[in-house]
Amino acid sequence: MSLTPIGEPRRKITTATIREKKLHHEPITCLTAYDYATARLVDEAGIDIALVGDSLAMTMLGYENTLAVTVDEMLHHVKAVRRGVKDALLIADMPYGSYQVDPVEAIHNATRFVKEGGAEAVKMEGGEKRVDMIRRVIDAEIPVAGHIGLTPQSVNIMGGYKVQGKTLNAIEQLMRDAVALDRSGVACIYLEGIPREVAAMITAEIETPTIGIGAGPDCDGQVLVFHDLVNLTFGQPAKFVRRYGDAAALMTQSILAFKSDVVAHQFPNDAESYHLPKETQAALETVLLRKHTMRR
Ligand code: KIV
Repeated sequence: MSLTPIGEPRRKITTATIREKKLHHEPITCLTAYDYATARLVDEAGIDIALVGDSLAMTMLGYENTLAVTVDEMLHHVKAVRRGVKDALLIADMPYGSYQVDPVEAIHNATRFVKEGGAEAVKMEGGEKRVDMIRRVIDAEIPVAGHIGLTPQSVNIMGGYKVQGKTLNAIEQLMRDAVALDRSGVACIYLEGIPREVAAMITAEIETPTIGIGAGPDCDGQVLVFHDLVNLTFGQPAKFVRRYGDAAALMTQSILAFKSDVVAHQFPNDAESYHLPKETQAALETVLLRKHTMRR
């Protein structure tokens, strides 16, 4: 049996495992992963869910928000993550425009994430108003993760990235959204950018596991964007982000050290160079000497 770096046994995580975790009050861990390297790190550390979030539009591709990223761009990353993930449940985000309009198109796109990308579930943003579409995808045998609260694909409707569920009406709507998703049979529900009190009420009310981001500590699990976790985002992090490392500082230090060694002719050194076999070296010296003598 293989172990995580801190010696825990690793096991395959499925949608059933995360349901069991809720039942047993075991916290669910989730991180985004966008490529082979981050997938290996997340998986080998024993994180339950590797989410190929459409946040990769910003973190990996430099877009301003998540709206522009396409199914093909997402698939490119999902395939790379698939190659790096062994045990974690692999969830792929359906990008904006790939599931909002036509159920046939939604099923077609979700199927691509499973067949071509190797995803084990897809994530779709939206509550009550998205439930019919979500049901259709589940009926096509594809597990779906819901996502309510601050849904980044609705940034233009929300008028910015604002905490949701702050009025009684908004709380009521969020509860209806959560209950509708719960009844639709989603595998889990991401709760983003809502007051902890509301997230706690939702988590207690429904059977589906909730995974929070900016939703306080009372959700069944927590997710962070990988680049926020290790400081690779080039900006002021949101209030809910805890930075567990400074990869930007480490990488910058390594880049500067490389640059300075090259400029000072300190890299590569002899031990970092390949050498001719002794016989070839001797033969080469003989040839060079002969040429030199003939020229005289
Ligand atoms: O795209 C993403 O990374 C997400 C998580 C923040 C939940 O949707």
